[in-house]
Amino acid sequence: MSEFGFSSTADEVLEGKDLTGKTAFITGGYSGLGKETARAMAAKGAHVIVAGRDIEKANTAAEEIRSEVEGAHIETILCDLGSLEAVRACGEEAQQRFDKIDLLINNAGVMACPKGETSDGFEMQFGTNHLGHFVLTKHLLPLVEKGEDARIINLSSRGHHLDTVHLDDPNYEHREYEKWPAYGQSKTANILFSVGLANRFGHKGITALALHPGGIMTNLGRHMTEEDLTWMRKRMEDNAKDGGEGLKTIPQGAATTCFAATEPSLQGHGGQYLEDCHVAEVDDESSSGGVRSYALDPKTADDLWALSERLVGETFSN
Ligand SMILES: NC(=O)c1ccc[n+]([C@@H]2O[C@H](COP(=O)([O-])OP(=O)(O)OC[C@H]3O[C@@H](n4cnc5c(N)ncnc54)[C@H](OP(=O)(O)O)[C@@H]3O)[C@@H](O)[C@H]2O)c1
Repeated sequence: MSEFGFSSTADEVLEGKDLTGKTAFITGGYSGLGKETARAMAAKGAHVIVAGRDIEKANTAAEEIRSEVEGAHIETILCDLGSLEAVRACGEEAQQRFDKIDLLINNAGVMACPKGETSDGFEMQFGTNHLGHFVLTKHLLPLVEKGEDARIINLSSRGHHLDTVHLDDPNYEHREYEKWPAYGQSKTANILFSVGLANRFGHKGITALALHPGGIMTNLGRHMTEEDLTWMRKRMEDNAKDGGEGLKTIPQGAATTCFAATEPSLQGHGGQYLEDCHVAEVDDESSSGGVRSYALDPKTADDLWALSERLVGETFSN
């Protein structure tokens, strides 16, 4: 059990830690939780790479962080997770520009969008949140392998309670699209990917973890309708009855990422799911916390790994 919890902020979690010499690569690093993670890590001396699909937004965010954090070492890189060609180009550019990555923070995400497809024809949420990060991680792995106490942190969500991964139809080709189960599927995939990474690369000193950051008002809710908001409020009320604690601020929302990336006791203990700055219990009932057992199942993780390799046409070598 850590000293941190629901209310802890990114700065509190990083207090007393020195990230000088660490390189952190953060997808979706120009807004919301990614930007706060970038700021907090830069403030502790990390070399931060803000990856984003709009380079102007990335450069603006980097400028803003530099104005807040004196001497911040921040760079930006173009990374559109909705196109495997763009992801591969990002990986190639990163290998040319950077010596290593100690902390790969797979933070970018899209939630409950209308039915859509990535450039490669994958369902938008599965394609962006999972497959985009799957291929990016593969291409950045040679850099991560050079990192010290290297960690891969996958931003999942309590939304993973909404659905498991449908290995027989991940792209909604044979069933009607539903935006919330599709988000749930993609977020379960983020956890299973962490399990798969831990099993394959743990022996190389890489710790892969997944996490739920909390419920935080960010641009993530851009696709939410009035009906969705009513449903969300009801869910939060039910959660409160079940012991849940409501919304977090953005600094609180970035805390579990910073914890997962730097907590010494987590080194070598990959394949776990965190929330509120601690490892969550397996719970197949609660709506207010915990990780579903289907999201940690090693066989499903292996099956998803094989499916993902087949869909993207690339294999990891380990
Ligand atoms: N906020 C919450 O309550 C909450 C709860 C649970 C989990 N999470 C997870 O936390 C992570 C961060 O979310 P957030 O709340 O900080 O939301 P956010 O402010 O919307 O940040 C998400 C980031 O992902 C980027 N992104 C979306 N599609 C992309 C693509 N195709 N290629 C590259 N980047 C892309 C967005 O860029 P654009 O702005 O250009 O689209 C944005 O920078 C997500 O993975 C989310 O699922 C958040």
